[in-house]
Parts: sequence; C-alpha cells; structure tokens
Amino acid sequence: MIQETGLHAPRAHVSDNHSHLGERRKYLMYICICNALTDKQVDRAIKDGCREPSDVYKACGTQPQCGRCMETMWHMLDTAMGEAAVSPGE
Ligand code: FES
Repeated sequence: MIQETGLHAPRAHVSDNHSHLGERRKYLMYICICNALTDKQVDRAIKDGCREPSDVYKACGTQPQCGRCMETMWHMLDTAMGEAAVSPGE
C-alpha cells in the first residue's frame, strides 16, 4: 500500500487565487531581507522622493548588505517613476 504523505500528497483544492492582492494586501512582502525592509517601507521612501536604492536605504535608516534586493528596488523605482510620468498630478 502506498501512503500519500509529505510533498507527494495530492494537493487540496486551492480556492484562493490571490485576486484580492490587487485591491488591498493584508501581508507585507520583504524586499530587503538583510535589513528587513518591506514593500511598504520602500514604497513610502519612493513616495517621499527617493530615486535610487541608496536613497531608500538611507531613508529607512539602513545600509546595503548583500545587494540582492537592488534589482527589485530598481524595478519598484522604475515602476513608480513610470506611473509618475503617466499621472503627474498624483
Ligand atoms: S537583501 Fe537587501 S542588502 Fe541583502
């Protein structure tokens, strides 16, 4: 008899497709693990005028450590800058 346990057990039906995340996320996402910086903190820093990851670290009272979060921060910065260019009134 084969037992279905652990990683090989069949998946239960997944009813949560995270569609609610676009409206209002309940959970924080860590952008920088070394400094425990969340997406909310990085967003706030960008809204407050940060234009480079080094600005974000400084605004959050931290310093870069391993640098693995830089790409994500640049992406967030580029996205924010793109959105600001599309809707300068906000
Ligand atoms: S993950 Fe941000 S410095 Fe390491």
